[in-house]
Amino acid sequence: MIRELTGAYALFTKSTTYLLRVTETGHLEHVYYGPAIHVDDDTVTALSETHAFTPGNTNPLDDEKTFSLEDICLEMSAYGKGDVREPFLEITYTDGSRTSDFRFEKAVIREGGPSLQTLPCSYGAADTLTVTLWDENHGIALELGYHVYEEADVITRTAVLRNLSKKAIDIDRLLSLQLDASSGRPWRLTTFTGAWGREMSRTDIPVTAGKYVNASYNGTSSNRANPFCMLSDPSATEDTGRVYGFNLVYSGNHYECAELSSYGKLRFSAGINPTGFQWKLLPGASFEAPEAVMTCSDQGFNGMSQNMHRFVRKHIVRGTWRDKPRPILLNSWEACYFDITERKLLRLAKAGAEAGCELFVIDDGWFGKRNDDTSSLGDWVANKKKLPHGLAGIASKINDLGLACGIWVEPEMVNVNSDLYRKHPDWAVDIPDQHHTEGRSQRILDFSREDVRSYIIDAMSKIFSTPGISYVKWDMNRTFTDYYSRKLPAGRQGEMSHRYIMGLYEVMGTLTERFPDTLFEGCASGGNRTDLGILCYFPQIWGSDNTDALCRAEIQNGYSYGYPMSVIAAHVSDVPNHQTLRKTPLSTRFNVASFGVLGYECNLTDMSKEERDEIAMQIARYKEWRDVFFHGSFYRGRSFSGTITASPATPVSDGAPANSNIMEWTVVSEDRSRAAGMLLQTLVLPNTQFQFYQARGLMPEARYHFYNVPHRPNIKDFGGLINAVSPVHIRQNSAAHELVSRIVKMDGEREDYHVCGDILMHCGIRLRPAFSGTGIDERV
Ligand code: DGJ
Repeated sequence: MIRELTGAYALFTKSTTYLLRVTETGHLEHVYYGPAIHVDDDTVTALSETHAFTPGNTNPLDDEKTFSLEDICLEMSAYGKGDVREPFLEITYTDGSRTSDFRFEKAVIREGGPSLQTLPCSYGAADTLTVTLWDENHGIALELGYHVYEEADVITRTAVLRNLSKKAIDIDRLLSLQLDASSGRPWRLTTFTGAWGREMSRTDIPVTAGKYVNASYNGTSSNRANPFCMLSDPSATEDTGRVYGFNLVYSGNHYECAELSSYGKLRFSAGINPTGFQWKLLPGASFEAPEAVMTCSDQGFNGMSQNMHRFVRKHIVRGTWRDKPRPILLNSWEACYFDITERKLLRLAKAGAEAGCELFVIDDGWFGKRNDDTSSLGDWVANKKKLPHGLAGIASKINDLGLACGIWVEPEMVNVNSDLYRKHPDWAVDIPDQHHTEGRSQRILDFSREDVRSYIIDAMSKIFSTPGISYVKWDMNRTFTDYYSRKLPAGRQGEMSHRYIMGLYEVMGTLTERFPDTLFEGCASGGNRTDLGILCYFPQIWGSDNTDALCRAEIQNGYSYGYPMSVIAAHVSDVPNHQTLRKTPLSTRFNVASFGVLGYECNLTDMSKEERDEIAMQIARYKEWRDVFFHGSFYRGRSFSGTITASPATPVSDGAPANSNIMEWTVVSEDRSRAAGMLLQTLVLPNTQFQFYQARGLMPEARYHFYNVPHRPNIKDFGGLINAVSPVHIRQNSAAHELVSRIVKMDGEREDYHVCGDILMHCGIRLRPAFSGTGIDERV
């Protein structure tokens, strides 16, 4: 709901309030964003800062020396008029000057949400406030949109710049979000950084004087710095305290900055990375910034995550697959790499079908002369030696096994060693007559060009319309360098990186509309482009090439702060793991992967009968619980590397720091009658006592039964060490953290608890070598 007050606007979600007002000077002041409060004109007066005087600074009003832009909370700041903090907007005008002065013109409240012409955006908002600001000196309008998602407790922001003058301007930066907060409270910034195989590593930084920047320069939203960030009260835990979450609906270079001003005010800014960006806005034209998403919760990190999860599931992900649990797939990559033949693939698919898989995915290596990564990207025709009956032939044989068939593509790339490159070298992104920086022996096709886009749309349409193909893994495997488009004039090369992303969205939009029933999975060397822009088209993303269960648990835990597990694909792979060489038990690999979109990526044809039987059991169990995993609410407890201790402080008896050794997850069904839990530890100390599992999100007054799936370690693997397995000490919590604990031995015996419904429990207790167990099962 949005309400107009006297010169102010109040936005209400279920549990939060956002307030802004127009100052006497016509600036847009940010007044409040936080848990729901009572709002009337007095509230606005009490919370706003009419006299933000800072000695020695500039005053925009000739006759009011007690007003300065430097120390007032603002909804947007243009460069050059006295707000010396991080600007929201920078424009170069034809006379070379760079100062803008935007003042309030009008505000309109309407039903419905954002609609952007050039970029994807969320859908299903209840209402929108559009505030138009006007720069009188230059004839430029800035429309700030605020879109309210009441149930999800999310507000999104959009910004559109319109050039209503007769002269072209250069936009040097137009961000999407500026959130200011008054001084007096300490802040912690949390970012998710990493690299290939190490995505979404949580980093907590106290916000102190100066700036901290989280940004991508890769050309993608990037595994180096995901655009999802959090600001929180330094005392917030997983379950308590104030936490804000922010994200962008964008897949290209982004920029987030947390700044503590000289007067102690916080400014959080987010949007397209201004580095390398410039946009010429001709008279009459407009430019859209990507949509920014913000949420706030007083229920700690879990509360904030739940808001983001609801929002992504219902207002970002769309189409046929939005609410449809995903098929359990078997992917050929780690079993075959490039070395595929029809015979080999069919043997693998058959083993997958026997284990209960539902979809078989032919990964890289099926086209052109692709025997390694040095050739053939761009030549999207099946290799006749490997697939003598073509794609349609193998797809139909896979379908005959009772499996859907999926295919891998990397449409945005071309190898220099390809027919496509030989024919159209100018289609690749590089700077004419200059040395090109290589990456995985491939170059990026210039998706800012219409001719390139239409060629790729045609080529992909041919593949995707192959009878029997109903899933597509869309990969993207290199960092951008040598930004340049031959179709853009010299003065507009700064537009290239953003035009590429706009072009990518156009291609993805056309293809997903053309193939509405195909399940698309995004991928960029794993998680190098996991963001809300991609999720507007593809309902799931391959989270990481790292399938080692322990690393994966940490990566998925990182994603879970901003993304629901129902969009993160996770596979059970072979051991020794291909990324870390670590051996973890099959059950541990399943336990971790089952919290995401479950798949297998192992050589089932090489496995022992016992292992194949175990996989068949896992799949059968997952099918019974798939709805809970897919639609349920996900809660974190303790995390391997987080610095936050879950509340209440969980006793640990093994002397390990409360947070370092245990990963604790719970997913609870929508009606809260069933839940699955996981307790996973990295290292086992000998001769230790119990670990506690604390379920979250259950009905406090209800009674549940707890089922533990017994470990079945091969005793030979462990020698006499079996006694070192820590029993699991179960602690059931309620929202009020009531404690009802009983000891469950790791023998699978059923015990009754003062809890209700069913809990599927994964107890990943790891021995040396790694060892885990699972809990479950039937309803009582
Ligand atoms: C990178 C992906 O992340 C892998 O899963 C696999 O598809 C390879 N590319 C294939 O080249």
